[in-house]
Amino acid sequence: MPVGMTLTKFLHEEQRRYPSSSGSFTALFSDLVIAAKIISSQVRRAGLGGILGAAGTQNVHGEEVQKLDELANDTFIRTMEHGGHLSAMASEEMDDIIHVDSKYPKGNYVIMFDPLDGSSNIDVNISVGTIFSILKAGKGSEVTVKDFLKPGVEQVCAGYILYGSSTMLVYTTGHGVHGFTLDPSVGEFFLSHENIRIPEKGKIFSINEGNSRHWLPGTSSYIEKVKSNGSEKTARYVGSLVADFHRNLLRGGVFLYPADKKSHKGKLRLLYEANPLSFIVEQAGGAASTGDERVLDVVPGELHQRTPLIIGSKADVEEAVSFWKTASV
Ligand code: AHG
Ligand code: MN
Ligand code: MN
Repeated sequence: MPVGMTLTKFLHEEQRRYPSSSGSFTALFSDLVIAAKIISSQVRRAGLGGILGAAGTQNVHGEEVQKLDELANDTFIRTMEHGGHLSAMASEEMDDIIHVDSKYPKGNYVIMFDPLDGSSNIDVNISVGTIFSILKAGKGSEVTVKDFLKPGVEQVCAGYILYGSSTMLVYTTGHGVHGFTLDPSVGEFFLSHENIRIPEKGKIFSINEGNSRHWLPGTSSYIEKVKSNGSEKTARYVGSLVADFHRNLLRGGVFLYPADKKSHKGKLRLLYEANPLSFIVEQAGGAASTGDERVLDVVPGELHQRTPLIIGSKADVEEAVSFWKTASV
């Protein structure tokens, strides 16, 4: 790995591989990196300046919005809207799509994002993150919600920024998965995890066992299996998807937020959470399923659609899915 490979340099080298590229994607991504740095500095200061706690509103999912959710959401929109590379955005925290103001030029891409994943962990100083997914905008003149309702296989880029013990940006454009670590003293992301590959099978299983009373038989029997004699699995669950996912991506294992008797469609959001992480995991050699089908093949019907999610090491996901399918017949 070259020493001192910055994210900016890496992006330009990637762009050079496609001589016909206009550079618009690279410019869009550079704006995103600025948003990431600003949100990272806000998160790093959480606890100071009165930015902890609830904002006093609920989002479209009926969840309590935190002040830092709002700050991250506003920062993301304000940093991205004037670059001229987007035609619209959609945020987990907002009911409708966000049109780029007519005073700014419009571009060929749309972006969907979860501004701050893991809201319940903000106030207790546990890792949170920002997740994003980029699509080509449709050819029509006016962007509508239909431009966002594409199956995950159509994503041109997906990634996340994890505000953990360090700030990391992990992304894919369909040519492997690369991770960059922010050096706060320099203010730059440097390549730290080139071509990440998830282990074929891992020791970790991650699920909220507090929901076990609502589980369907496929989930119960799989979790019984991973806890039985002879199993080498161990449990890890942070409660911030982005952090649970990142750990399992590097260490190997499986994360489950299945459909259950209480949440018939699971909890996680297809467009802002499941699709981007599924694109990344597949690019790293892993798999992601709803239990019934590959996540990336799901055709969304609405912007804030929820989906069950079983994601991680290929062999582990296959095993969990086989329990799910056997129990459902
Ligand atoms: P968000 O903070 O963006 O609303 O997402 C929270 C999600 C996800 O990060 C996590 O995996 C899951 O909620 C945890 O849910 P439970 O508390 O039900 O386990
Ligand atoms: Mn989230
Ligand atoms: Mn969120």
